[in-house]
This record gives sequence, C-alpha cells and structure tokens, in this order.
Amino acid sequence: MQTETTTPDEVADPILAVDGITKSFGEFLAVDDCSFDIGNGSITGLIGPNGAGKSTMFNVISGFYEADSGSVHFDGEDITGLPPNEIAHKGLVRTFQITRDLTEMTVMENMMLTPKNQTGESMFRAVFDRNTIDTENEVIAERADELLELFQLDHVREEFAGNLSGGQRKLLEMARMLMLDPDLMLLDEPMAGVNPTLENDIVQRIKELNRERNVTFVIVEHDMSLVMDLCDRIVVMNEGTDLAAGPPSTIQNDDRVLEAYLGGGA
Ligand SMILES: Nc1ncnc2c1ncn2[C@@H]1O[C@H](COP(=O)(O)OP(=O)(O)O)[C@@H](O)[C@H]1O
Ligand SMILES: [Mg+2]
Repeated sequence: MQTETTTPDEVADPILAVDGITKSFGEFLAVDDCSFDIGNGSITGLIGPNGAGKSTMFNVISGFYEADSGSVHFDGEDITGLPPNEIAHKGLVRTFQITRDLTEMTVMENMMLTPKNQTGESMFRAVFDRNTIDTENEVIAERADELLELFQLDHVREEFAGNLSGGQRKLLEMARMLMLDPDLMLLDEPMAGVNPTLENDIVQRIKELNRERNVTFVIVEHDMSLVMDLCDRIVVMNEGTDLAAGPPSTIQNDDRVLEAYLGGGA
C-alpha cells in the first residue's frame, strides 16, 4: 500500500520551493525541516492537525517570520529572509484579517489603502508603474472597482468594513490583497466563520482567479471534503514537517495521514 510516490519533489513546474525550513520559538520547534514544492497554476491544500506548523510555515514563506534554517524559492529566485513587502512586490502575498483600524474605513478606502498600508509606498508605485495611464489613483480606483464587482462587494463599497458580515470581510481580505496583482496567494483558513452560501462564493472566486488569471493558491483549510473538491494537490504537515504530498485521491488513502489525524492534534 505504501509507495514512495508521494515525495515532495514530484512537482514538474514549481512556483514555490520550500526546502528544509526550520523555525523554533525558544526551545519549541514549530517547523522542523519541512520541504515541499507548489506547482505553478495549482490550487494546493496545506493540511495537518492543529499545531502542525501550517500558519508558522505561511509566515516564514511570506517573510513575516525569519527561518532558523532552510530556504524558500519563489519563481526560481531565493527569497529566504526577504522582508514581507519585498516578497509581496515579487507577487507572493498572504491574506490577513481586517484589523480594527481598517474596520473604521469604508470598503473602498480599504481597497485603495492596501498597497501602501500592507507593503509600503514603494510597493504602491511598483504595481502601477506597469500601467501606462496618467493618474495612478484612477488606475487604482478602476482596479478596486473591478475587484469589488468580482467579489460582489460593489454594493457595499461605501459601507464601513466593520459593518460587513464575517463572510463579506473574508471576501474583502482577499480582494484587497488582489490589488497587488499576485501570482501566488497563501490563504490561511479563508472559510473560517463563513456561512455556506458565502463559502461557495469564495470557492468560486478562487477557481476563477486560478483559471482566468493563473493565480496559484496554497490554502490551509480544515474541511476535508472542501479541500478534496477544490485542490488538485495536497501537502500534509505533521509535527512541523512534511508528512506526505500528492493528489487528493492518494492523500485520502494514505495510512500515515490518517494516523496523524487520529493520533495527533493539540
Ligand atoms: N509566535 C509563537 N510563539 C510561540 N509558539 C508558537 C508561535 N506561533 C506558533 N507557535 C506554536 O507552534 C506550533 C505550530 O503552530 P501553528 O503554525 O500555528 O500551527 P497550525 O497553523 O498548523 O495549527 C504550535 O504548537 C504553536 O503553539
Ligand atoms: Mg494555523
């Protein structure tokens, strides 16, 4: 039953290569020699029991934590240790919960703020230098409107973000990071606290962005049936390291994965 087909190196065209990442907090090894590749254009699920190190891994990849050892390559380039704004500038972003100060701004203000607020002034310029339109603000507003429409938030564009439903906030979290025109998005439990209707909306947006704009996604999500449906590949973490990787059908029937879920979990 166990074959050696689920090695982390089977991805033909990786956009992200995580190699031997270790990250400790004091004595505690949260991530312990973890390696995996993410295929360009894929929707990859990153799963594992609570405390497996998934969120820590996301923070290392996106530059919010500095790893003790190991490397992260994005698009063939070594981005290990770069600050988050530089990594975002290169097209790799992770989503954040809308913080309290942002709830007191309108949805549109959130959208307009994002590039500056999340990643610094230089980011703001870098994204829109690509366009040959006169006013940066006009371009930004146009893009914001387009994304708000895509995320069905255009009707609440002048609403305070704090007045949105939990699900709408999740959509806004994604929409505002898309202002940066990323190639790779890391989503940490994007469906948490979202009702089934909006959950379906988020799934559809992810599929559209993947299909139509070739955005690659890595998604931490606990709902296994959703992961199996949405993802074309799954990476399993357990106790800080990569346990298995492969297509959903393989992972679903992997004894080691089952064992990790039954025996593990904090
Ligand atoms: N900032 C931190 N300081 C100390 N311990 C942490 C910190 N962040 C995470 N941990 C610990 O690292 C382990 C992995 O956490 P995390 O990456 O959040 O796991 P997951 O997202 O897979 O549930 C957990 O045991 C957690 O308590
Ligand atoms: Mg987590």
